[in-house]
Amino acid sequence: MPISKEQLLSIKGDKRVFVETGTSTGAGVHAALDAGFEVINTVEASQEYFNGVLGAFGVSMRSTIGGFPCGIKGLTFFHHGDSAEFLKWFLSQLPDSGCILFFLDAHFSKEDSHNDNPLLRELAAIKESGQRNHTIVVDDMRLWTRKNTWEGGAIDFENEDVIKAVLAINPAYQLSFLDSGERGEHKDDILVARVQP
Ligand SMILES: C[S@@+](CC[C@H](N)C(=O)[O-])C[C@H]1O[C@@H](n2cnc3c(N)ncnc32)[C@H](O)[C@@H]1O
Repeated sequence: MPISKEQLLSIKGDKRVFVETGTSTGAGVHAALDAGFEVINTVEASQEYFNGVLGAFGVSMRSTIGGFPCGIKGLTFFHHGDSAEFLKWFLSQLPDSGCILFFLDAHFSKEDSHNDNPLLRELAAIKESGQRNHTIVVDDMRLWTRKNTWEGGAIDFENEDVIKAVLAINPAYQLSFLDSGERGEHKDDILVARVQP
């Protein structure tokens, strides 16, 4: 269950740029467009999902930006590559304006998804950038435990490692949680870190 437009509106604040890791079929992009983000960047490692989402959004303009293949539609940029490598490049290009809401949602999910769980590498890339004022949203917190033995997607960190990595970016982050699932059945599953809630 992707994050909803209403959830994004409740945490958007003054953020104008949506940066998503793990595009999949584009539900997060739809929610971000509906929530009124002005610029959207999303990155997907799977070639199949990348091609599929370009087709689904009717993207015809293709380019390569920062070495990453990219489909462009208006101010929505669909990047293809590893999310953590992409974030390193992306943040190196950007002045620290604190204007981003990161939606970190790249992970192994189905047999045909890219087999990786890059969350801690993504958070390390944000930390290395020195940019401390963006909003960071981490989806699927219930999954981050070594006890979770996904076939092909083993997790080698725990939920609290994620929180530590977020606070290592900025200890002043204030943390809150949203529920996920069709009926909100996954309690406190979405971590929201904001400097000024
Ligand atoms: C749960 S899905 C994303 C769902 C999407 N954000 C939404 O809201 O509908 C996770 C996606 O992350 C992708 N992924 C896994 N590892 C990745 C990586 N290292 N870099 C980029 N994408 C990755 C998978 O291929 C999969 O499509």
